[in-house]
Amino acid sequence: MAEAAFQRCINPDCGAEFGCNESYFKCPKCGDLLDAVYDWDKVNVPARLADFGKRWASRDNRLDFSGVWRFRELLNFCDDKFKVSIGEGQTLLQRNDMLAEFIGMGKGCLHLEYEGLNPSGSFKDNGMTAAFSHAMMVGAKSCACASTGNTSAAVALYAHHCGLKCTVFIGSGRIAFGKLSQAMDYGAKTIQILGDFDDCMKQVQAVCTELGLYLLNSLNPFRLEGQKTIMYRILEGLGWEVPDWIIVPGGNLGNSSAFGKAFGELKQLGLIDRIPRMAIINATGADTLTELVNNRGLKWNGGNVDNKIIDDFYGELTAKNFSPHTCASAIEISRPVNLKKCLRALDICNGVVRAVSDEAITDAKALIGKFGLGCEPASAATIAGLEVLLGEGIVKPSEKVACVLTGHCLKDPNVTVNYHKENSGKYSNAPIECANDLEKIIELMNTD
Ligand code: F0G
Repeated sequence: MAEAAFQRCINPDCGAEFGCNESYFKCPKCGDLLDAVYDWDKVNVPARLADFGKRWASRDNRLDFSGVWRFRELLNFCDDKFKVSIGEGQTLLQRNDMLAEFIGMGKGCLHLEYEGLNPSGSFKDNGMTAAFSHAMMVGAKSCACASTGNTSAAVALYAHHCGLKCTVFIGSGRIAFGKLSQAMDYGAKTIQILGDFDDCMKQVQAVCTELGLYLLNSLNPFRLEGQKTIMYRILEGLGWEVPDWIIVPGGNLGNSSAFGKAFGELKQLGLIDRIPRMAIINATGADTLTELVNNRGLKWNGGNVDNKIIDDFYGELTAKNFSPHTCASAIEISRPVNLKKCLRALDICNGVVRAVSDEAITDAKALIGKFGLGCEPASAATIAGLEVLLGEGIVKPSEKVACVLTGHCLKDPNVTVNYHKENSGKYSNAPIECANDLEKIIELMNTD
């Protein structure tokens, strides 16, 4: 029941509450982030997590078929009649013993959650199905987002499905081709701003406020409710056993925020008995979270976050005219909008943060491709980060780890092709040119 849900400001000094039939992307009282929260006594949550799994048997029901709405009691903010689904969340938790062995982990310890199997090819669809359901509930007619690419692809797809007008803002020259092609193909008005993602993020908020558009970035609290289900599906893939670690790339920090909230709620509801640890992995060229948490001591602190640490750092970035740079364009973000919620998630999950180089990312990406399912560069930061954490002894080889592969390998073919063709990495596998001659071909086939 929707009445069991409301929105609440995460700032404990404010704590303002609003109904779910209202639409904000920031607390109208203090400007901080908003959460969707539930009065669990009024929600009929199944007694055991395994009860959600039984819905696989009724997949002709569109809500049971959705890998998001299958868990609907845990994101109970709107009536079924508003719920939008295009079949998101049919994803796979792959146990990968070959990759595990290669990086020195035990058998059965490494799992890859492949979110590239979503309809638009990334994890974003989990969030969009929820946010667009809310958009339908509040009667939105027109929507917008800023994006490094995947958000724009998912928004464009769902907007068309829902009959909403859609504008996406992308940084010029900063978006992988696969993603740009999707936004155009799905009919979004695509505006390339002469700037980076952070510039787009700022502009889109102003545009949405000015023109009354529905915002679909992860500032939208309902979007993050959908992204919680990625964790439910990991638990499901492990037979409802809680892993020791969740590893996730960090960009705008929506996923990590949603994952922490998901585990906090499951624990509160008594549906799990312990919370996994979380590792959030930045690229070194876009490492705001790593810098703030590991070097400047930024903490959740019960919600009393030291804003001065953030303001000082952002001031330094502005003074340097800093623009982030990484081949993992999806996470090329230096002012992550969900920073505070992410600090809360680190607190809930006893989390750690690391940054990995582009070289480590592209090598890890090639390994995942070779042994697993393939993914885009940002997703491969998880395995690169895992290798660092194994080296530091923070993750033990015998621990159970789930890495979230956030996007499909065909999202960004340029990075992959360049890595192999330019022989630039440890696992480069360049195509071999050969004369159109059978003898020469056979000769080549007989060499290693
Ligand atoms: N991985 C992929 C493939 C992404 O597209 C993104 C974010 C992230 C990781 C980072 O996730 O923001 O939850 O920390 N992409 C956004 C976009 C920013 O616009 O598509 P996050």
